[in-house]
Amino acid sequence: MEITLGDLDPGAELAELRAALLERPRRIPSRYFYDRRGSELFEAITELPEYYPTRAETALLEAHADEIARATGAEELVELGSGAASKTRILLDALARAGNLRTYVPLDVSEAMVRRSAEELAAAYPELTVHGLVADFHHHLDHIPPGEPRLVIFLGSTIGNLRPAEAVAFLRGIAAPMAPGDFFLLGVDLVKETAVIEAAYNDAAGLTAEFNRNILRVVNRLAGGDFEPDRFAHRAFFDPANRWIEMRLVARGAQTVRLPKLDLTLELADGEELLTEISCKYERRQVERMLARGGFSLDRWFTDDERLFGLALARHDASRPEGGSWHQGTI
Ligand SMILES: C[S@@+](CC[C@H](N)C(=O)[O-])C[C@H]1O[C@@H](n2cnc3c(N)ncnc32)[C@H](O)[C@@H]1O
Repeated sequence: MEITLGDLDPGAELAELRAALLERPRRIPSRYFYDRRGSELFEAITELPEYYPTRAETALLEAHADEIARATGAEELVELGSGAASKTRILLDALARAGNLRTYVPLDVSEAMVRRSAEELAAAYPELTVHGLVADFHHHLDHIPPGEPRLVIFLGSTIGNLRPAEAVAFLRGIAAPMAPGDFFLLGVDLVKETAVIEAAYNDAAGLTAEFNRNILRVVNRLAGGDFEPDRFAHRAFFDPANRWIEMRLVARGAQTVRLPKLDLTLELADGEELLTEISCKYERRQVERMLARGGFSLDRWFTDDERLFGLALARHDASRPEGGSWHQGTI
């Protein structure tokens, strides 16, 4: 097992955070949710009765993993935003049954999660080469070591955290260097009754609220800041025009927040909101269009009877002229 630390640039991260906090509404990029505590809270959220996406996606993987393994013939599984990689085992088992599996590459910004999942999976699959990458999937795909045929997976509807134009740019970044025989598996949350979606982000146990507020602790650590998380209320609602959930933190009372490493002092009004996450909900045709614009053609579409969640298996569209390499000797 090997772990590689990508060259995450703390200076650029702080500059991006500062710029986001100065937007209106003020914003904190969602990837700051995932320190160790944030990743643990997210894992706990995935087990809540209201949080249907993980159960629905797991069931789809269980039902279709063997078909996916046969269709792709993949020897290497690359997982973007791998987190705890709990669902990954379903695919690893199927790829192992298909007899081709050699390598697993989990990539995540959370070093703690990459280490933990890489260690657990290397122990559970002794024959498997595990190469963990602590990296940003917007910038560091070139850190992925060579190896094919490949299946690249992006689960948990993490793509929903990107605005539509960002999602297409992100897909192009994945598609360009892929070989014609490579596949991409994308998990997406589907449009459904608003009450069902909103309940998933407003659980009765208050874990999502805690997860949301935890982002302020991460920012405090990064920026030497003095946000008081308990002085913010959690708010999550479905925006039907954009078809996305917005998660916000609402200031309880006017407050001054000092962030010395960002050279920034925020004067927040009572009720002022910080946007911490969007989570887009899709329909199949939108996913197909987004994949096409990103350089993929949809090969298979899997969904459940209730149309809660979708899994799109796509091929790199070889008619696209661009090419490149994920492994340009950076590491
Ligand atoms: C919604 S969770 C999904 C985790 C897991 N894939 C699942 O399906 O349960 C999103 C994951 O993406 C990671 N992540 C978010 N932004 C990232 C980025 N820019 N680069 C790499 N990983 C990122 C987070 O650390 C987190 O583990």
